[in-house]
Amino acid sequence: MWADLAPVGRAATSGGYFRQPFASAERELAAWFEEQCAARGLRLERDPFGNVAAWWDPPAPPVPGSAVLTGSHLDSVLDGGAYDGPLGVVSALAAIDVLRGRGFVPGRPLGVSVFVEEEGSRFGLACLGSRLAVGATSWEDARALRDRDGVALGDVVPGPGAGERSTLLDGVGAFVELHVEQGRGLVDLDEPVGVASEIWPHGRYRFDFGGEANHAGSTRMEDRHDPMLTYAMTALAANKQARLAGQRATFGRIEVAPNGTNAVASRVTAWLDARASSDAALADLVAAVERQAADRADRDGTTVTVTPESVSGSVGFDLTLHLGGPGHDRWPVLPSQAGHDAGILSAAGIATAMLFVRNPTGVSHAPAESAETADCLAGVTALAGTLERLAR
Ligand code: GLV
Ligand code: MN
Ligand code: MN
Ligand code: MN
Repeated sequence: MWADLAPVGRAATSGGYFRQPFASAERELAAWFEEQCAARGLRLERDPFGNVAAWWDPPAPPVPGSAVLTGSHLDSVLDGGAYDGPLGVVSALAAIDVLRGRGFVPGRPLGVSVFVEEEGSRFGLACLGSRLAVGATSWEDARALRDRDGVALGDVVPGPGAGERSTLLDGVGAFVELHVEQGRGLVDLDEPVGVASEIWPHGRYRFDFGGEANHAGSTRMEDRHDPMLTYAMTALAANKQARLAGQRATFGRIEVAPNGTNAVASRVTAWLDARASSDAALADLVAAVERQAADRADRDGTTVTVTPESVSGSVGFDLTLHLGGPGHDRWPVLPSQAGHDAGILSAAGIATAMLFVRNPTGVSHAPAESAETADCLAGVTALAGTLERLAR
């Protein structure tokens, strides 16, 4: 299966992946997924937001609310790695094959899901598909979200008709997501597979800096109101604040107007991605960065306003879902500083767990993201064991 996916959306220059939701490469993967499900005789269910689940139904009618779901996402960040998302989908299908090969017959529905726009790299809101599926984000709010070309979400996916909603998760009692690890935890522990204890609280905050455009040569340094300077000092302050507090702060995206070499900028928009080990620590971190941005704007004669675009609170996982899996008692338990659809489902009250597969480079959201075949197979074995217990 992996060989089918590897070329889709890969940039020849960097070797990284551009799989934007509802655009060609990601749609190719979505079609591939449906073919794989059809070939396995799974029953396909699509919701109005573009999320999909494919079900292996039990021979007898199931107890309501007992379905078990596993899966991940097929979209990527801009110039992302091969594994973030697709590894969880391919492993889910492989785990179904393992269970079939063992002659396992599920006692409750066992499904494989793909949620759309997990990364938020097109419409700005991470885990958009799962948020819409559980109702944490309303279609009324989401449909107007626009990508960088001005295309609205409501233009690329139909959304629900009057009185309609996603019923994809209605019968789901447990969700398990397998994911490539996005740091070095398992490398340091010398373990191929681990389980997640929690997801750190995290959020995206838009900083709008306003200043005064002027000539880069004839404007004296002391006469400038340069929003680029205020932004740069804010980025330094955020980095220092996060390092001192043991948290994370990143400005990974900015837009500058008019973006000319020989003019002081008039406006800078920058997005802060902040993550911390507790809700209080996240609030403190962001408040400190906002304060320092405002102080700096005062000194520079510029303005700054801060708009939270999405904030996700601390989420814990249900480690008991893994109980009885092969080797479950020795899997290391790690926190996740990355967000996942599993976090959205857990926050919505579904018993949820995650498995991580070792990433030798420890790099993620970049082309150097990696995983060894033997570790991926260990991940499939672990996932199959967990599903077998949950779905019997
Ligand atoms: C999603 O992968 C995130 O944590 O940014
Ligand atoms: Mn990701
Ligand atoms: Mn992911
Ligand atoms: Mn993610």
